[in-house]
Amino acid sequence: MTKNIPPSIIALDGPAASGKSTLGRTLADSLGYLFFDTGVMYRAITWIALQHDLNLRDETVITELAQKAQIDIRPPSKNDGRACDVILGDKDVTWDIRDGKVEANVSVVSAYAGVRRALSEHQRRIGMRGRIVMVGRDIGTVVLPEADLKIYLDASAEERARRRYDEIIARGEKADYDEILKKVIERDHIDSTRAVAPLRPADDAVIIDSDKMNAGQVVARVMELCK
Ligand code: CDP
Repeated sequence: MTKNIPPSIIALDGPAASGKSTLGRTLADSLGYLFFDTGVMYRAITWIALQHDLNLRDETVITELAQKAQIDIRPPSKNDGRACDVILGDKDVTWDIRDGKVEANVSVVSAYAGVRRALSEHQRRIGMRGRIVMVGRDIGTVVLPEADLKIYLDASAEERARRRYDEIIARGEKADYDEILKKVIERDHIDSTRAVAPLRPADDAVIIDSDKMNAGQVVARVMELCK
């Protein structure tokens, strides 16, 4: 009897707050794979640029920053809901990069070609080792076009804003649904209309619309595809 081998490189793309991280983490855990959320790298560059008061509109300065930045992604050192530790230099920025100011500016930073080149080379090196679930916007199209399984997880902007709202409230922070919805739509627009590596499903991606599905149903559907 032959045993089916699950796909080794799994690319998981989709718009903001579509549930990629939840799905990716669960999938990686059940397969015993590494979970790598590439969004944290773009967030980390944005955070450090804001920290140093750099002009985010200055592509050259931000690109140099991305080329020099020492971003380290490590297994979670704390049990506080994090999927991994995000370390910049010697500082743990795991939660700092979730800040509203980072969220409002990350799409500008991630649209720069030089920033993308610096970060995606790094991502590709890690991805090619296999046994990985890599999450982002351009994993199936640009970073790992040879991925064995490509999922594009979608949901309406309203549903995604609701999920992001619930996430923030669950962390004990304040949130404004209308404001979140506006920001989600803005970020989608920038991410999908940028010249380099825009957000779009790869031609061979399986598109899952999760509007009417709960997290468990989405996981079950993708686990089916992994058999
Ligand atoms: O969790 P959420 O979907 O809100 O965002 P994220 O995955 O952490 O990504 C934050 C931002 O980084 C996105 O809005 C994109 O602008 C950028 N990003 C990207 O351009 N390419 C990736 N592979 C991952 C993230």
